[in-house]
Amino acid sequence: MAGKSSKVTEVLEIDIDAIRAREKEVAQETDQSIMDRLRERFQILDDMTLAVKKGDVRAMIVSGPPGVGKSYGVETVLEKSDIFNKLAEKKPKYEVVKGAMSAIGLYRKLYEYSAPGNVVVFDDCDSILMEDLSLNILKGALDSSSRRFISWNTDSRVLRNEGVPDRFEFKGAAIFITNIKFEHVRSKKLRDHLDALESRCHYIDLQMDTPREKILRIKQIITDGMLDRYEFEQPEAVRDELVSFIDENQNKLRELSLRMVLKLADLRKSFPANWQATARTTCMKRS
Ligand SMILES: Nc1ncnc2c1ncn2[C@@H]1O[C@H](COP(=O)(O)OP(=O)(O)OP(=O)(O)O)[C@@H](O)[C@H]1O
Ligand SMILES: [Mg+2]
Repeated sequence: MAGKSSKVTEVLEIDIDAIRAREKEVAQETDQSIMDRLRERFQILDDMTLAVKKGDVRAMIVSGPPGVGKSYGVETVLEKSDIFNKLAEKKPKYEVVKGAMSAIGLYRKLYEYSAPGNVVVFDDCDSILMEDLSLNILKGALDSSSRRFISWNTDSRVLRNEGVPDRFEFKGAAIFITNIKFEHVRSKKLRDHLDALESRCHYIDLQMDTPREKILRIKQIITDGMLDRYEFEQPEAVRDELVSFIDENQNKLRELSLRMVLKLADLRKSFPANWQATARTTCMKRS
């Protein structure tokens, strides 16, 4: 386990100086220009996801802080673009894989989605970005050569039983969604590995390192109608109430994210009279 925890430290070690420098830059910008920039980035995420689905782009890495809408963006576009398959009750041509995955699991998944037009999304599957064997498989799958073959070099009964060959051509595409900011990773070995992967992929960094950017993004998505499904009686008043609460308590909330907005909206819906007291207990850090 010691090895494992040291790997986690290598990844989580973020560059505080870089974030401070970023805060200074952001302080120079107007709210509007930050919101325009964020809107544009998420539009690029949608456009690129579509390009991956069409097969024009074979691999993309999406990095950004928790709860800002990375998975939502990618999944919404893939779902829409696969609608005809869904209506025909056919197996979707994409899959979102979440959580830990072994190297052999990765190999099998790439085989399953190896046909042209298929997309595998590895969402928060950081274990495959940390592990030599998995990374080598990915490097083969995403190489820029015109034909990309992947092989499994040791005899495996599991693969044999499932009819998975020990070598195949990968013609599909892949998307990686992660909280890891690649350039902030300090470990040289890991950095080299990730650089090799990055060089094979388009990289979208949904920069939102500062609280100010996060709050503006929250306001933007609420204005777009994120809370409509709650059907509050006075939607605009509730919207203002929630936004003010987030604004006033930005330093105390456990996380500044769209996920936090939903938590607070849930509370507002369940306990209209005293939701703030509940939120103080469940959504805030202990001071
Ligand atoms: N544009 C949007 N409109 C409405 N709801 C959204 C939007 N973007 C995100 N959400 C909602 O906000 C929540 C957080 O979004 P999401 O799960 O995509 O975050 P994430 O960036 O993938 O976070 P993590 O890194 O923790 O996985 C989800 O419940 C999602 O449905
Ligand atoms: Mg996610």
